[in-house]
Amino acid sequence: MNASAGGQEFEFTDSDFNRLRDLVYAHTGIALSDAKRQLVYSRLARRLRKLNLTTFGEYCSTVEAGGAEEMQELTNAITTNLTSFFREQYHFDQLAAEALPQAQNQRAATRRVRLWSAGCSTGEEPYSIAIVLREAFARLQNWDVKLLATDIDSKVVQTAAAGVYDAERLKGMSVERRTRWFTRDAAGPDTYSAATELKSLITFKKLNLLDPWPMKGPFDIIFCRNVVIYFDKDTQRRLFERMAETQQVGGWLFIGHSENLFNVTRRYKLVGRTVYRRTE
Ligand SMILES: C[S@@+](CC[C@H](N)C(=O)[O-])C[C@H]1O[C@@H](n2cnc3c(N)ncnc32)[C@H](O)[C@@H]1O
Repeated sequence: MNASAGGQEFEFTDSDFNRLRDLVYAHTGIALSDAKRQLVYSRLARRLRKLNLTTFGEYCSTVEAGGAEEMQELTNAITTNLTSFFREQYHFDQLAAEALPQAQNQRAATRRVRLWSAGCSTGEEPYSIAIVLREAFARLQNWDVKLLATDIDSKVVQTAAAGVYDAERLKGMSVERRTRWFTRDAAGPDTYSAATELKSLITFKKLNLLDPWPMKGPFDIIFCRNVVIYFDKDTQRRLFERMAETQQVGGWLFIGHSENLFNVTRRYKLVGRTVYRRTE
Protein backbone atom coordinates (compact mmCIF):
# COMPACT_ATOMS: atom_id res chain seq x y z
CA MET A 1 0.00 0.00 0.00
CA ASN A 2 1.36 3.45 -0.93
CA ALA A 3 0.69 5.84 1.91
CA SER A 4 0.44 9.49 0.86
CA ALA A 5 1.42 12.41 3.09
CA GLY A 6 -2.05 12.37 4.68
CA GLY A 7 -1.66 8.69 5.57
CA GLN A 8 -4.10 7.63 2.87
CA GLU A 9 -3.49 4.91 0.34
CA PHE A 10 -3.56 7.31 -2.66
CA GLU A 11 -2.21 10.83 -3.02
CA PHE A 12 -5.16 13.23 -3.38
CA THR A 13 -4.26 16.92 -3.67
CA ASP A 14 -6.50 20.02 -3.77
CA SER A 15 -5.71 20.34 -7.43
CA ASP A 16 -6.82 16.71 -8.07
CA PHE A 17 -10.08 17.38 -6.24
CA ASN A 18 -10.68 20.51 -8.33
CA ARG A 19 -9.96 18.66 -11.55
CA LEU A 20 -12.43 15.93 -10.61
CA ARG A 21 -14.96 18.53 -9.53
CA ASP A 22 -14.73 20.25 -12.93
CA LEU A 23 -15.02 16.96 -14.81
CA VAL A 24 -18.07 15.87 -12.81
CA TYR A 25 -19.76 19.26 -13.06
CA ALA A 26 -19.24 19.57 -16.80
CA HIS A 27 -20.49 16.05 -17.49
CA THR A 28 -23.33 15.58 -14.97
CA GLY A 29 -24.28 18.99 -13.58
CA ILE A 30 -23.51 17.70 -10.08
CA ALA A 31 -21.77 20.44 -8.09
CA LEU A 32 -19.49 18.84 -5.48
CA SER A 33 -18.92 21.00 -2.41
CA ASP A 34 -15.66 20.96 -0.40
CA ALA A 35 -17.44 18.79 2.14
CA LYS A 36 -17.63 15.98 -0.47
CA ARG A 37 -13.86 15.57 -0.70
CA GLN A 38 -13.57 12.50 1.54
CA LEU A 39 -16.63 10.96 -0.10
CA VAL A 40 -15.02 11.40 -3.53
CA TYR A 41 -11.85 9.75 -2.24
CA SER A 42 -13.63 6.74 -0.80
CA ARG A 43 -15.93 6.25 -3.78
CA LEU A 44 -13.05 6.33 -6.28
CA ALA A 45 -10.34 4.43 -4.38
CA ARG A 46 -11.67 1.14 -5.79
CA ARG A 47 -11.31 2.47 -9.36
CA LEU A 48 -7.67 3.47 -8.73
CA ARG A 49 -6.91 0.00 -7.36
CA LYS A 50 -8.59 -1.63 -10.34
CA LEU A 51 -6.60 0.52 -12.78
CA ASN A 52 -3.34 0.01 -10.83
CA LEU A 53 -2.91 3.74 -10.30
CA THR A 54 -1.14 5.27 -7.32
CA THR A 55 -2.33 8.90 -7.33
CA PHE A 56 -5.55 10.79 -8.04
CA GLY A 57 -3.53 12.96 -10.42
CA GLU A 58 -3.03 9.87 -12.62
CA TYR A 59 -6.71 9.07 -12.31
CA CYS A 60 -7.70 12.58 -13.47
CA SER A 61 -5.42 12.23 -16.49
CA THR A 62 -6.94 8.83 -17.27
CA VAL A 63 -10.46 10.27 -17.23
CA GLU A 64 -9.44 13.33 -19.24
CA ALA A 65 -7.74 11.17 -21.87
CA GLY A 66 -9.94 8.13 -21.63
CA GLY A 67 -13.19 9.07 -23.33
CA ALA A 68 -16.62 7.82 -22.48
CA GLU A 69 -15.81 4.60 -20.62
CA GLU A 70 -13.94 5.97 -17.60
CA MET A 71 -16.23 9.01 -17.51
CA GLN A 72 -19.13 6.59 -17.07
CA GLU A 73 -17.27 4.79 -14.24
CA LEU A 74 -16.60 8.13 -12.56
CA THR A 75 -20.26 9.13 -12.96
CA ASN A 76 -21.49 5.82 -11.53
CA ALA A 77 -19.18 6.24 -8.54
CA ILE A 78 -20.19 9.85 -7.82
CA THR A 79 -23.98 9.76 -8.17
CA THR A 80 -26.11 9.34 -5.07
CA ASN A 81 -28.81 6.79 -5.80
CA LEU A 82 -30.81 6.78 -2.56
CA THR A 83 -34.45 5.87 -3.28
CA SER A 84 -37.30 3.69 -2.07
CA PHE A 85 -40.73 2.41 -3.10
CA PHE A 86 -43.50 4.99 -2.62
CA ARG A 87 -40.97 7.53 -1.33
CA GLU A 88 -42.92 10.69 -0.46
CA GLN A 89 -46.23 8.84 -0.38
CA TYR A 90 -48.23 12.09 -0.76
CA HIS A 91 -46.97 12.34 -4.36
CA PHE A 92 -48.47 8.96 -5.20
CA ASP A 93 -51.73 9.96 -3.49
CA GLN A 94 -51.93 13.11 -5.64
CA LEU A 95 -50.92 11.13 -8.72
CA ALA A 96 -53.82 8.69 -8.17
CA ALA A 97 -56.40 11.23 -6.98
CA GLU A 98 -55.72 14.17 -9.33
CA ALA A 99 -52.97 13.88 -11.93
CA LEU A 100 -54.06 10.63 -13.56
CA PRO A 101 -57.83 11.36 -13.58
CA GLN A 102 -57.04 14.78 -15.08
CA ALA A 103 -54.73 13.23 -17.70
CA GLN A 104 -57.42 10.65 -18.52
CA ASN A 105 -59.95 13.45 -19.07
CA GLN A 106 -57.60 15.53 -21.16
CA ARG A 107 -56.55 12.54 -23.28
CA ALA A 108 -60.01 10.99 -23.67
CA ALA A 109 -59.86 11.44 -27.46
CA THR A 110 -56.45 9.87 -28.08
CA ARG A 111 -56.32 7.57 -25.02
CA ARG A 112 -52.60 8.17 -24.99
CA VAL A 113 -50.83 9.10 -21.73
CA ARG A 114 -47.07 9.57 -21.35
CA LEU A 115 -45.04 9.77 -18.17
CA TRP A 116 -41.35 10.21 -17.42
CA SER A 117 -39.36 9.29 -14.32
CA ALA A 118 -36.22 11.40 -14.82
CA GLY A 119 -33.43 10.26 -12.48
CA CYS A 120 -35.10 6.91 -11.77
CA SER A 121 -32.15 5.38 -9.90
CA THR A 122 -32.63 1.64 -9.20
CA GLY A 123 -36.27 1.64 -10.30
CA GLU A 124 -38.29 1.95 -7.10
CA GLU A 125 -39.83 5.23 -8.31
CA PRO A 126 -40.98 4.04 -11.79
CA TYR A 127 -42.30 0.74 -10.41
CA SER A 128 -44.27 2.67 -7.75
CA ILE A 129 -45.71 4.89 -10.52
CA ALA A 130 -46.48 1.79 -12.63
CA ILE A 131 -48.41 0.21 -9.74
CA VAL A 132 -50.54 3.36 -9.40
CA LEU A 133 -51.01 3.40 -13.18
CA ARG A 134 -52.16 -0.23 -13.31
CA GLU A 135 -54.55 0.40 -10.44
CA ALA A 136 -55.91 3.59 -12.04
CA PHE A 137 -56.27 2.19 -15.55
CA ALA A 138 -57.54 -1.24 -14.46
CA ARG A 139 -61.08 -0.46 -15.58
CA LEU A 140 -60.10 1.43 -18.71
CA GLN A 141 -59.68 -0.64 -21.84
CA ASN A 142 -57.47 0.23 -24.78
CA TRP A 143 -55.41 3.00 -23.27
CA ASP A 144 -51.91 3.58 -24.61
CA VAL A 145 -49.96 4.37 -21.41
CA LYS A 146 -46.18 4.44 -21.31
CA LEU A 147 -43.63 5.41 -18.70
CA LEU A 148 -40.07 6.34 -19.64
CA ALA A 149 -37.52 5.82 -16.85
CA THR A 150 -34.05 7.32 -17.28
CA ASP A 151 -30.86 7.87 -15.31
CA ILE A 152 -27.29 8.92 -16.07
CA ASP A 153 -25.87 6.02 -14.02
CA SER A 154 -25.60 2.95 -16.28
CA LYS A 155 -25.48 0.53 -13.32
CA VAL A 156 -28.70 1.69 -11.69
CA VAL A 157 -30.51 1.58 -15.03
CA GLN A 158 -29.50 -2.08 -15.37
CA THR A 159 -30.76 -2.83 -11.86
CA ALA A 160 -34.00 -0.98 -12.56
CA ALA A 161 -34.60 -2.87 -15.80
CA ALA A 162 -33.99 -6.22 -14.06
CA GLY A 163 -36.68 -5.35 -11.48
CA VAL A 164 -35.44 -7.73 -8.79
CA TYR A 165 -35.47 -6.49 -5.18
CA ASP A 166 -34.50 -7.84 -1.76
CA ALA A 167 -37.45 -8.47 0.56
CA GLU A 168 -36.08 -5.69 2.77
CA ARG A 169 -36.55 -3.09 -0.01
CA LEU A 170 -40.25 -3.99 -0.36
CA LYS A 171 -41.03 -3.56 3.32
CA GLY A 172 -42.53 -0.07 2.88
CA MET A 173 -45.20 -1.46 0.55
CA SER A 174 -48.52 -2.96 1.66
CA VAL A 175 -48.66 -6.76 1.62
CA GLU A 176 -51.56 -6.56 -0.87
CA ARG A 177 -49.47 -4.59 -3.34
CA ARG A 178 -46.41 -6.74 -2.86
CA THR A 179 -48.41 -9.90 -3.44
CA ARG A 180 -50.22 -8.44 -6.43
CA TRP A 181 -47.25 -6.87 -8.21
CA PHE A 182 -44.21 -8.96 -7.25
CA THR A 183 -43.36 -12.63 -7.37
CA ARG A 184 -41.09 -14.20 -4.80
CA ASP A 185 -38.17 -15.80 -6.62
CA ALA A 186 -38.33 -19.53 -6.09
CA ALA A 187 -34.62 -20.24 -6.13
CA GLY A 188 -31.90 -18.38 -4.30
CA PRO A 189 -32.07 -15.57 -1.75
CA ASP A 190 -35.08 -13.67 -0.43
CA THR A 191 -35.77 -11.62 -3.57
CA TYR A 192 -38.87 -10.53 -5.47
CA SER A 193 -39.33 -9.79 -9.18
CA ALA A 194 -41.60 -7.09 -10.54
CA ALA A 195 -44.61 -8.40 -12.50
CA THR A 196 -44.51 -8.35 -16.30
CA GLU A 197 -47.61 -6.11 -16.19
CA LEU A 198 -45.47 -3.42 -14.54
CA LYS A 199 -42.38 -3.97 -16.66
CA SER A 200 -44.35 -3.81 -19.89
CA LEU A 201 -45.39 -0.24 -19.07
CA ILE A 202 -41.84 1.01 -18.57
CA THR A 203 -38.97 1.71 -20.97
CA PHE A 204 -35.63 2.02 -19.15
CA LYS A 205 -32.85 4.06 -20.76
CA LYS A 206 -29.58 5.62 -19.80
CA LEU A 207 -29.92 9.39 -20.32
CA ASN A 208 -27.87 12.33 -19.10
CA LEU A 209 -30.34 15.17 -18.44
CA LEU A 210 -27.67 17.64 -19.62
CA ASP A 211 -27.45 16.03 -23.07
CA PRO A 212 -29.92 16.51 -25.93
CA TRP A 213 -33.04 14.37 -25.38
CA PRO A 214 -34.12 11.94 -28.08
CA MET A 215 -37.79 12.20 -27.04
CA LYS A 216 -40.05 15.18 -27.56
CA GLY A 217 -43.07 14.36 -25.45
CA PRO A 218 -45.58 15.66 -24.74
CA PHE A 219 -45.32 14.24 -21.23
CA ASP A 220 -48.50 14.45 -19.20
CA ILE A 221 -46.65 13.75 -15.98
CA ILE A 222 -42.95 14.07 -15.08
CA PHE A 223 -41.30 12.90 -11.89
CA CYS A 224 -37.88 14.51 -11.41
CA ARG A 225 -37.38 14.06 -7.71
CA ASN A 226 -34.24 14.43 -5.63
CA VAL A 227 -32.08 14.92 -8.73
CA VAL A 228 -31.57 18.69 -8.92
CA ILE A 229 -30.53 19.08 -5.27
CA TYR A 230 -27.04 18.37 -6.57
CA PHE A 231 -27.30 21.01 -9.36
CA ASP A 232 -26.69 24.75 -9.12
CA LYS A 233 -29.55 27.18 -9.92
CA ASP A 234 -28.42 27.81 -13.52
CA THR A 235 -28.37 24.11 -14.32
CA GLN A 236 -31.77 23.71 -12.63
CA ARG A 237 -33.18 26.61 -14.67
CA ARG A 238 -31.96 25.16 -17.98
CA LEU A 239 -33.31 21.73 -17.07
CA PHE A 240 -36.79 22.85 -16.03
CA GLU A 241 -37.12 25.22 -18.98
CA ARG A 242 -36.39 22.26 -21.24
CA MET A 243 -38.82 20.05 -19.34
CA ALA A 244 -41.50 22.71 -19.78
CA GLU A 245 -40.93 22.44 -23.55
CA THR A 246 -41.84 18.73 -23.38
CA GLN A 247 -45.15 19.42 -21.59
CA GLN A 248 -48.42 21.07 -22.58
CA VAL A 249 -50.28 23.55 -20.40
CA GLY A 250 -51.56 21.67 -17.34
CA GLY A 251 -48.81 19.01 -17.48
CA TRP A 252 -47.72 17.77 -14.04
CA LEU A 253 -44.24 17.98 -12.53
CA PHE A 254 -43.29 16.27 -9.26
CA ILE A 255 -39.98 17.32 -7.67
CA GLY A 256 -38.18 16.24 -4.47
CA HIS A 257 -39.23 17.20 -0.94
CA SER A 258 -36.30 19.58 -0.40
CA GLU A 259 -36.47 21.15 -3.89
CA ASN A 260 -38.48 24.10 -5.24
CA LEU A 261 -38.84 26.18 -8.40
CA PHE A 262 -38.70 29.55 -6.65
CA ASN A 263 -36.31 31.78 -8.64
CA VAL A 264 -35.77 28.88 -11.05
CA THR A 265 -38.66 29.07 -13.53
CA ARG A 266 -42.12 30.63 -13.81
CA ARG A 267 -43.31 28.03 -16.26
CA TYR A 268 -44.84 25.91 -13.52
CA LYS A 269 -47.21 26.82 -10.71
CA LEU A 270 -47.33 25.09 -7.35
CA VAL A 271 -50.40 22.87 -6.86
CA GLY A 272 -49.34 20.64 -3.97
CA ARG A 273 -46.40 19.67 -1.82
CA THR A 274 -43.54 20.04 -4.34
CA VAL A 275 -46.08 19.33 -7.11
CA TYR A 276 -46.36 21.74 -10.04
CA ARG A 277 -48.38 22.21 -13.22
CA ARG A 278 -47.22 23.77 -16.44
CA THR A 279 -48.54 27.32 -16.91
CA GLU A 280 -49.55 29.16 -20.11
C1 LIG B 1 -31.20 10.48 -5.14
S1 LIG B 1 -31.56 9.67 -6.64
C2 LIG B 1 -33.31 9.95 -6.74
C3 LIG B 1 -34.08 8.74 -7.23
C4 LIG B 1 -35.60 8.92 -7.30
N1 LIG B 1 -35.96 9.95 -8.26
C5 LIG B 1 -36.17 9.25 -5.96
O1 LIG B 1 -36.53 10.40 -5.68
O2 LIG B 1 -36.25 8.35 -5.12
C6 LIG B 1 -30.92 10.82 -7.86
C7 LIG B 1 -30.65 10.19 -9.21
O3 LIG B 1 -30.37 11.22 -10.15
C8 LIG B 1 -29.43 10.73 -11.06
N2 LIG B 1 -28.76 11.85 -11.77
C9 LIG B 1 -27.86 12.73 -11.26
N3 LIG B 1 -27.44 13.56 -12.22
C10 LIG B 1 -28.08 13.20 -13.37
C11 LIG B 1 -28.04 13.68 -14.73
N4 LIG B 1 -27.26 14.69 -15.11
N5 LIG B 1 -28.83 13.06 -15.63
C12 LIG B 1 -29.63 12.03 -15.27
N6 LIG B 1 -29.69 11.53 -14.02
C13 LIG B 1 -28.92 12.11 -13.07
C14 LIG B 1 -28.48 9.91 -10.20
O4 LIG B 1 -27.74 8.96 -10.94
C15 LIG B 1 -29.44 9.28 -9.19
O5 LIG B 1 -29.79 7.96 -9.53
